[in-house]
Amino acid sequence: MVKCRVCGESVVEFVDFGRQPLSDAFRVPGDTRPEFFFRLAVGVCESCAMVQLMEEVPRDRMFHEEYPYRSSGSARMREHFTATALRLLERECRRDDPFVVEIGCNDGVMLRTVKEKGVRHLGVDPSGGVAETARELGVDVLTAFFEEETARRVRAEHGPADVIFSANTICHIPYLDSVLRGVDALLAPGGVFLFEDPYLGDILAKNSFDQIYDEHFYFFSAHSVRAAAERFGFELVDVERLPVHGGEVRYSLARRGERVATPAVAALLAEEEREEILSLARLRLFAERVHQVRADLIGTLRGLREEGKRVVAYGATAKSATVTNYCGITPELVSFVCDTTPEKQGRLSPGAHLPVRPGEAFSEPYPDYALLFAWNHAEEIMAKETGFREAGGRWITYVPEVTIV
Ligand code: SAH
Ligand code: TYD
Ligand code: ZN
Repeated sequence: MVKCRVCGESVVEFVDFGRQPLSDAFRVPGDTRPEFFFRLAVGVCESCAMVQLMEEVPRDRMFHEEYPYRSSGSARMREHFTATALRLLERECRRDDPFVVEIGCNDGVMLRTVKEKGVRHLGVDPSGGVAETARELGVDVLTAFFEEETARRVRAEHGPADVIFSANTICHIPYLDSVLRGVDALLAPGGVFLFEDPYLGDILAKNSFDQIYDEHFYFFSAHSVRAAAERFGFELVDVERLPVHGGEVRYSLARRGERVATPAVAALLAEEEREEILSLARLRLFAERVHQVRADLIGTLRGLREEGKRVVAYGATAKSATVTNYCGITPELVSFVCDTTPEKQGRLSPGAHLPVRPGEAFSEPYPDYALLFAWNHAEEIMAKETGFREAGGRWITYVPEVTIV
C-alpha cells in the first residue's frame, strides 16, 4: 500500500498512465543510453484528500544543470509574473528593508521585477542552468533544493523573509513536510507564504490529464492544502483562482492565528464539496474520460495520416510527454514539434522521440494541421500565428476533448 507523503495514511489509486519517461528529458539524437522510465499513476489520500503520484522520481534526475524549461518563454507569463511581483511588493513588503524569497525562481521571470525595484531578494532553485540565466539579469540565486535545511541556512545568512513566494514548484516537491518546516523557520513573524499551482478542480473540469507527469507530484485543492497547512502550524488564509496554465489557485498560508481568512477560502471549500472533486467516483470518472480522449486523439491522427495530411505539434511542453507516450504518438503521425526554447531545439522529445525544431520551422511551410501541445498558451499562440489559419491550417486540441478548429 502506498502511504500519503503528507499524512502517512493510505493512498487509493484512480488513474494509471503506465511507463512514462522524464517529461523534460529531451534527448540528443544518437544518444543510445537507456531512457529512465517510471510508472505514472495517481491516487488520493483517504485521510487528508491529497491527490498525489503513486511513485516518486528521484529529484536530481529531474532538476539539474541541463533542466531545459524556461519560464520566460511566454509573453503572457512574463506579464503575469511582473504583476505578481508588483503586488507582493505593494501588499507584503511594508517593513523597512524587506526580504523576498522565491522557491523555484527558474530564469528570474518574477524576481527580476523585485530586483529592479531594489528590494532584497533570493531565489532558490536547484537547476544550475536556469539559475545562471537569472543571475545574468542581476537576480540573486542560491542553487539548491528548498527544504528545511536550506531554509535554515538562508535565515542564518539573510535574516527572516517577509514573504515567501512560489509558482509551479511546490506541487513538484514530494517532501512537503520539509518545505513547510522550512517556511516556518524562514518566515518573519506576520509573514506570508504564497504559492500557485495547477488546481485539481480545473484539471477535472477540463479533463487536462496532461498536467499529470513526473514533475507534478501533487494536485492541490483547498481541502488538501488546508489539511497540510494545519499539520505544520499554518492556516490557509486566502485562495485566488488564476487563469494561467489552464487554471491554477494561489494559496496564502500564515502562521496559525496571525491573519483572518478571507471569505474566498470558505467559498472554494464549499465549491469543492458541491463539485465532489475529492470523491473517488468523480476521480474514477476522470480516468474513464482520459481513456476516451486517448482513443479519439489517436483515431484522429491516424485518419489524417491516411488522408495524407501533414501534422506537426506546437510547443514541446513537459505536459506533452504524457500525451505522446500514453497515446502512442510517433513521428509517423506527427512529424516534429516546434518550440522557441533553444535548450530543447535539435533534440528528441522524451520517450516518443519527436524531433524538436525552432519556432520558425512551423511556417516553412505551414502544415495542414497543428497539434497544440501548449494549449495553456492557446490565446497567445493563436494571436501570433494568424498566418497559419489564413493559409488554411487547422488546430487540433484535446482539452477538454478532441476538437479541430
Ligand atoms: N516559478 C517558475 C518555474 C516553474 S518550473 C514558473 O512558474 O514558471 C519549476 C522550477 O522548480 C524549476 O526551475 C526547478 O528547478 C525548481 N525546483 C524543483 N524542485 C525544487 C526545490 N525543492 N526547491 C526549489 N526549486 C525547485
Ligand atoms: P508550458 O506549457 O509553459 O509548460 P510545461 O513544459 O510545464 O508543460 O510550456 C510551454 C512550451 O511551449 C515551452 O517549451 C515554450 C513553448 N512555446 C513556444 O514554443 N511558443 C510560444 O509562443 C509559447 C507561448 C510557448
Ligand atoms: Zn494524507
